[in-house]
Order: sequence, then C-alpha cells, then structure tokens
Amino acid sequence: MAFIKNGKRIVDLRSDTVTQPTPEMRQAMAAAEVGDDVFGDDPTVNQLEAMAAERTGKEAALFVASGTMGNLVALLTHCQRGQEMIVGDQSHTFMNEAGGAAALGGIHPRTVKNQPDGTLALPELEAAIRGENVHYPRTRLICVENTHNSCFGTPLRVEYMQAVGELAHSHGLRLHVDGARIFNAAIALSVDVKALTASADSIQFCLSKGLGSPVGSLLCGSREFIYEARRNRKMVGGGMRQAGVLAAAGIVSLTRMVNRLAEDHVRALRLMQSIAEIPGLVAEPVHTNIVYFRFAPETKMSEAEFVSALEERDVRLLPSGKRRFRAVTHCWIDADDIQAAIDAIRQVMNGKNS
Ligand SMILES: Cc1ncc(COP(=O)(O)O)c(C=O)c1O
Repeated sequence: MAFIKNGKRIVDLRSDTVTQPTPEMRQAMAAAEVGDDVFGDDPTVNQLEAMAAERTGKEAALFVASGTMGNLVALLTHCQRGQEMIVGDQSHTFMNEAGGAAALGGIHPRTVKNQPDGTLALPELEAAIRGENVHYPRTRLICVENTHNSCFGTPLRVEYMQAVGELAHSHGLRLHVDGARIFNAAIALSVDVKALTASADSIQFCLSKGLGSPVGSLLCGSREFIYEARRNRKMVGGGMRQAGVLAAAGIVSLTRMVNRLAEDHVRALRLMQSIAEIPGLVAEPVHTNIVYFRFAPETKMSEAEFVSALEERDVRLLPSGKRRFRAVTHCWIDADDIQAAIDAIRQVMNGKNS
C-alpha cells in the first residue's frame, strides 16, 4: 500500500497515525453488524472488546475514541479529585494530552524523570510515593508508557513491568499502562502481550497507530474497573452509538495487523542505519518503529528548511525538538518508500535542489 496524491507517491513518515484503513478494513466496516453501543447492544463492539480483553489477559475491555480518551478514562476511574498520579516527565500523558487529568479530573500529576529507556527508575519512583501527611495529596496511581514514544520507541521489558507492578501494589497503588504501542513492544521483545500487561491494573492500547485502524483504542482491566470506566467514558462524551462500523476495522487490526509490525521495525532500523551514514546527521537508537535523528553540530540548515526540502521531494517527517527529527514507519511504508526517503534525505543534505 502506498499513499498516492495527485498521481505522486508520498512517503509519509510523520507518524503511524497517518495510516488509512486497508481494503479489508473498509469491507469489514461496510458489512459490520451494528447496534446502539451505549445500550450495550452493538455486537461488533462487543466482539472487539472481548477480543481485546482476551489479548491483554484482562476480564473486560472498553472501546474508546482515542488513546487520549483511553488514558483519561483510566485516570478518572483510578483517581478521585485531589489524588496524585506518578507519571514520567516525558510521557505522552503528561506532555501531550492537554492536561486532561488535571483539568477534568482534578488529578495531581507528579513527574519522575524518564530514563533514556523509557522506564522510571524504581528507587526514584518509590521516593515519589507520598507518606500519610495532612499536607500531601494522596498518591493513588503509577503510569508507565510502553513502548515509550519519546524515549526512542523503547519497549519496556517484562521484568521491568513486573517490578513496577509489584512496587505499586506493595504500596497499595494501582498501575496504568499507556500501551498505545504495546503490540510493537510485544513483537520487538518476542513475548506475548499478556506478559507485558499481567502486572497492570489497566492498559490502554491504540488501534489507530501501527495497527492501521482509522479510529479507536481499547481500555482493558478488571470487570469492576471497566464497569466504572464505562460511566466515565459517557461523562467525557465518549459513548458512541453504532460504533460497530469502527470496531469492525479494529477486529481486522487485531487479527491481521499485529504480526506484520515486525516489518515496520526492520524498516525503521534500515532507515536509521542509512541516516547514520549521511554526513551532517546523527542517528539515535531505534528499537521499534520510531526513528529519531538530529543535525550534527556543524550542520547549517534550519529544521524548517530541512523539512520543507523533503516535502518538495514528497517525503514527510516531523521536527521533534531543537535540531531533531522523528520518522515513524507503519503499514503504508514499504521497502521502496524507505529507499525513497533515504535518497531524498541524502540529496537534501548534499544541498541538491532536485
Ligand atoms: C504513547 C502515546 N499515548 C497516547 C497517545 C494518544 O493517542 P491518540 O492520538 O489516539 O489520542 C499517543 C499518540 O500519539 C501516544 O504516542
């Protein structure tokens, strides 16, 4: 599959959210049996939720509109107003979800520094848990992100996930996992996703990233947790009606799109290895489908010049911080697209205009 715009092939590496539904998804969506999901009678949503619960080893699951909504509903369900959640300082939930937990839930975020591998160091995490004191908010929740988007897409290992779960539970806290890309983590680590979610009280994963669906995420947890989460989803306006048309694509994602994530990882690695050889650029480590690279100190171009010179060559990627860029592989990027991106980057760095 390739993106064709005005007869031209576009290599869109801005994010794995740019994927469009596959022909199989479009067929499944058109044929989906639907009902009113707020009444609980959309059979396709029910089927997707059952599949998601089974895949993550949880009792139940809830279909939500987005990763942001899945995380927000989880936080609202775990925490009361004035309670505290501990999150990574580079986590998507802290950095990129519009402060929803604080704005809508009155939840106090306490950050711990993310290590370069996306983990929160256990001693620092433990030190951040509040003791009982009239001055303090009460710590209720620990959140971790797997894979960690801004920490090089690193997958957090089974041993770490177990350890962080044990730490949370030994202090009477809950563990929420922002697993927007948990299937990338499972594939990269060659483990069953259940091994990564076993210690979590809740896990959110996205269908609309590497798994290729147009919309949707699943929040998974105990039956009791999901019962409460369903009410919070309604509260934030996420009760969708004939959502089976969307869930149908999600079922295709879970049945057909998981194992192929390995191809995205191979392509990301290939892109990184080639970028590492281009003078003027410095590649950063690649673990899954997210590639970060920077300008070398001697490079004179601005970020905007680099991005627009690539855009002129039909290659899209995003600036990510000062003199730094991000490229993400996904199911609409094949080996030819990667080669085209490498050629275009090389040309731009060589100062060629076409
Ligand atoms: C790690 C992580 N969590 C959550 C989200 C939010 O997902 P959505 O864009 O569906 O709200 C993203 C989106 O990029 C993400 O990368």
